[in-house]
Amino acid sequence: MSWKSSLRRHAGGVSSDTTSITIPDGLLPADGRFGCGPSKVRHEQVEAIVAARDTILGTSHRKPAVKNLVGDVRSNLSSLFSLPDGWEILLGNGGSTVFWDIATFGLINNRSQHLVFGEFSSKFADASAAAPHLGEPTIVTSDVGDHPAANAEPGIDLYALTHNETSTGVSMQLRRPSGVAAEQGLVAVDATSGAGGLMWNPADVDVYYFAPQKCFASDGGLWIAACSPAAIDRIETIGASDRWRPASLDLKIALDNSKKNQTYNTPAVATLVMLNAQLDWMLANGGLNFAAGRSAESAQKLYSWAETRDWATPFVTDPAKRSNVVGTIDIADHIDANEVCSALRANGILDTDAYRKLGRNQLRIGMFPAIDPADVAALTGCIDYVVEQLS
Ligand SMILES: Cc1ncc(COP(=O)(O)O)c(C=O)c1O
Repeated sequence: MSWKSSLRRHAGGVSSDTTSITIPDGLLPADGRFGCGPSKVRHEQVEAIVAARDTILGTSHRKPAVKNLVGDVRSNLSSLFSLPDGWEILLGNGGSTVFWDIATFGLINNRSQHLVFGEFSSKFADASAAAPHLGEPTIVTSDVGDHPAANAEPGIDLYALTHNETSTGVSMQLRRPSGVAAEQGLVAVDATSGAGGLMWNPADVDVYYFAPQKCFASDGGLWIAACSPAAIDRIETIGASDRWRPASLDLKIALDNSKKNQTYNTPAVATLVMLNAQLDWMLANGGLNFAAGRSAESAQKLYSWAETRDWATPFVTDPAKRSNVVGTIDIADHIDANEVCSALRANGILDTDAYRKLGRNQLRIGMFPAIDPADVAALTGCIDYVVEQLS
């Protein structure tokens, strides 16, 4: 049995009318993982876990082997993002969702402004609104498929932006609201799906936080935050105040531990190994320009293909706001996108489904740096084939 047939078997095999479509081997991508997180893990990252078998895995996170790994992750991220002096990489357990709660305890002084343009950006706004010790946040919204802009506003001490709204495939250029200095209003960016695949300038940001299951092609469960000197000052100031903070959500505790290359409580060591292997790969090949360049190449292939099909349309109408890491393609009503996804899945092409709550007849394609642009091109050929068979 060829590896491609075996892939089909593992993906669920042939079971219904839709899934009885067999895509010719010559059209299939070399790797069928197009999910938007967890996303494709490169084989070399799994090999890095095997290489860490006797020396790092299963050893204490308070001893040099794991602490050096955490130190490598922190310095590699600083290099990847070209962070100026004074920035720190903080990390802890719980993923980006937990970081929203952490921010309500340790980053927002009183009131935050949130740009809400999809599921994930709305969740941080909800967390801030629910925190009893904070004032009512300002919510700035836009239509789905677009994003709003941050506006300077008196009384706001944190502006919450999202680099890439994974639910809709909209990305935004990161800019400080004009006239707002970092000391007055921190710019905190949810970069969960953008970090490592989109360019940004640290001069426009104070906190750039993410989890490693997207561009960094690892498992979830960690949060990581690159913090500017102004953000560190805020953490220290709130940390010295009498605001109650649960220890596991206390940024001051996370800061102190991170500086010692450790986490407050036990981290998933294999995730750190995979993350660091991905960082090594990115840096060895040219850093963020290389990684973001791969995603940009994939995006160019996907969107230009969709524009030439009369049954497919990029969901995001403004090309400047189309994400290079998460592509959303609307499908004409006479073709059921779910059937397309089922047929793709039966052929080993996985996780192309739309974001459930968006409720559109849509495909959503991960184009993180690990995903080969040639595979994105092959995927478009497979979609063409399936649509032709369905009609
Ligand atoms: C933009 C964005 N923010 C936050 C999250 C939540 O991340 P986590 O699952 O690590 O909590 C996600 C997950 O997909 C996301 O895409």
